[in-house]
Amino acid sequence: MKLPARGTPLVELRAKMAERKQQDADWRGGRTWSLIYPAGEAVDEVLRAANELYVFENALNPFRFPSLRQMEGEVVEMTLGLLSAPENAGGTMTSGGTESILMAVKTARERARVERGVTAPEMIVPRSAHPAFAKAAHYLGLELKQAPLASDLRVDVAAVRELVTQNTALIVGSAPNYPHGMIDPIPDLAAIAAERGISFHTDACVGGFLLPFLERLGEPIPAFDFRVEGVTTISADVHKYGYATKGASVISHRDRSTLTHQIFLYDQWPGGLYGSPALAGARPAAPIAAAWAVMNFLGEEGYVALARRVRDTVRVLRTGIESIPELHLWGNPPASLLAFGSEKVDILAVGDVMDDRGWHLDRQTGPDALHMMVSPEHDRIADAFLADLREAVAHHGPRRGGAARYS
Ligand SMILES: Cc1ncc(COP(=O)(O)O)c(C=O)c1O
Repeated sequence: MKLPARGTPLVELRAKMAERKQQDADWRGGRTWSLIYPAGEAVDEVLRAANELYVFENALNPFRFPSLRQMEGEVVEMTLGLLSAPENAGGTMTSGGTESILMAVKTARERARVERGVTAPEMIVPRSAHPAFAKAAHYLGLELKQAPLASDLRVDVAAVRELVTQNTALIVGSAPNYPHGMIDPIPDLAAIAAERGISFHTDACVGGFLLPFLERLGEPIPAFDFRVEGVTTISADVHKYGYATKGASVISHRDRSTLTHQIFLYDQWPGGLYGSPALAGARPAAPIAAAWAVMNFLGEEGYVALARRVRDTVRVLRTGIESIPELHLWGNPPASLLAFGSEKVDILAVGDVMDDRGWHLDRQTGPDALHMMVSPEHDRIADAFLADLREAVAHHGPRRGGAARYS
């Protein structure tokens, strides 16, 4: 398409966008798992208001827009509180989980270089860690070492210990990981790191805004946050279970002094001092405002209520899946991510039938699985989903393909 010679009126553009949007996933109908985390009309209204108010501003220069600096600071402080961070902790907002993870890896790399003279840095991640770590290793010049999973689908701690060398800059655990929803043994992993002065990152991109509230509901959530000695950084995405619109995550540091390894400062150009906390230069303001607004709108009470809906829906789905004799869950996930497979039917063929019925489930291989990420609004469709799943297990043909598919 070439840039049109003449402009198009808004009414026409609106109609065209609405028409094109009809091809997109029906997330409002609860048929997607992951990507969007609907939390109901009242939250949507708050998000629309914040986005509208801050659609034009630029968070590049916090001195020009002090309201943004204040809101970002408050989002970070509230997040640090949720993660039980100590008094001298610090952090910044980023555009999402991947950027927070990139910043954790950069911090660890710089810390290893400055404190231990490491010039060929390595990082150890569970095989189930999100690809953002591989991306970070690729961008930032670290060698990525993948540790295998134990039979419970959490990372094998002994294998991690074996992989440590003088060059290890970072060890990672997920809370929870994406593929199976398991929380790695964070205290054991962080202890290995702490003994050797190595940085340790908890990837709580998914869990950061869910696990603290499940814990308040009395769920047995394994230790994952700053209460675990040795955890140096944590990523927590406000645009996942914080229910903000996209573009909002927090990277938290146990000790705010390590932020110097994250932040980029430069004054060797005619424009004076240029400081940047993360990857982006110009930064959209709306995600900051949306994160701040939704956190204040929901408060602890609102988040606990939404976590209860997630927990109860997970229970319904787990019980339903486990009542289908051909199916079983992979692992024993403690939060909101589920992967299920089968030794009796071809689970990816079952996924094809579910596709045909309009459910968008991720496919996983090694082990073969269908994958779900449960959000509050799924309580409306859990029974319909299970009815379709029972049908799909009973009546499916050969699989159309065997490739894994993320989102
Ligand atoms: C465990 C985990 N970490 C990190 C990420 C990356 O987050 P983002 O897609 O916001 O970059 C995801 C995304 O699903 C995730 O599930």
